[in-house]
Amino acid sequence: MAAEMALVKPITKFNTINTTTARLSNRRLPFTVRMSAATTTPPTSKPSKKPQKQGIKESLLTPRFYTTDFDEMETLFNTEINKNLNEAEFEALLQEFKTDYNQTHFVRNKEFKEAADKIQGPLRQIFVEFLERSCTAEFSGFLLYKELGRRLKKTNPVVAEIFSLMSRDEARHAGFLNKGLSDFNLALDLGFLTKARKYTFFKPKFIFYATYLSEKIGYWRYITIYRHLKTNPEFICYPIFKYFENWCQDENRHGDFFSALMKAQPQFLNDWKAKLWSRFFCLSVYVTMYLNDCQRTDFYEGIGLNTKEFDMHVIIEVINWLYLTLPLPLLD
Ligand SMILES: [Fe+2]
Ligand SMILES: [Fe+2]
Repeated sequence: MAAEMALVKPITKFNTINTTTARLSNRRLPFTVRMSAATTTPPTSKPSKKPQKQGIKESLLTPRFYTTDFDEMETLFNTEINKNLNEAEFEALLQEFKTDYNQTHFVRNKEFKEAADKIQGPLRQIFVEFLERSCTAEFSGFLLYKELGRRLKKTNPVVAEIFSLMSRDEARHAGFLNKGLSDFNLALDLGFLTKARKYTFFKPKFIFYATYLSEKIGYWRYITIYRHLKTNPEFICYPIFKYFENWCQDENRHGDFFSALMKAQPQFLNDWKAKLWSRFFCLSVYVTMYLNDCQRTDFYEGIGLNTKEFDMHVIIEVINWLYLTLPLPLLD
């Protein structure tokens, strides 16, 4: 996952629940898990050897962690119950994920730290926030996909393995962003977040809508930034942007997988309720993205983008793409 999922709660059935009730498995986290308080410490200051731990600032627009009804998921992906599941298509997708195109892509170099040291003033803080939020959003995808991979293993091993491989991708993305934070003398305490943060419950139908949208939005955000910086390299203030081209292909594959999942669940796409819900989710995801980005125009201007134009471009591209899968989202 790359973008942040819809945050508006449509009905009271949507609950925020604690980790213990989310029934998430114990998992080994692939990341460094410390949060330094030295967010605003300039590099000329001597960094603390024992940084104070610090949580992320929670707000309505903070990226959330999600859980769902895993029993219903098991039913939806049972091939004996759901005859719409195209096993050949999922097998082909699995082979694609197994290829692991980005296995050697996320390799850092000394440019990262040098670039981070040059980012000063207000941009430094906003840059740190960008890394924190992106890392949290990617990690949110890791947690959800990892659990789906575990829970669907018996019911549908192919779909389960794809979820596990997507969690591999998201772990890689989150880990790379967290390494970026270390250039700013920080590290998100992801182990602590996993246990301490509340999980938002979405029914499977809404998980499908929201994750599909967030993956496709993530793809378009990354590729738009990458293409912009390729033609305007003077705005590349930090090397992470150079990785976005291959990175966004992961998000694109994730989105394509959700597209196949939803086609196998026509009850979530074809009636008038589904049309209304999918439009609602589109709208709430777009509004969330727009509000988030408008609060951070300094970041987008810092890399030479006009925030509103950037968001409009992403939204239009996603809407065009969504016509292929979701029922008439927002345009008719
Ligand atoms: Fe991702
Ligand atoms: Fe993703």
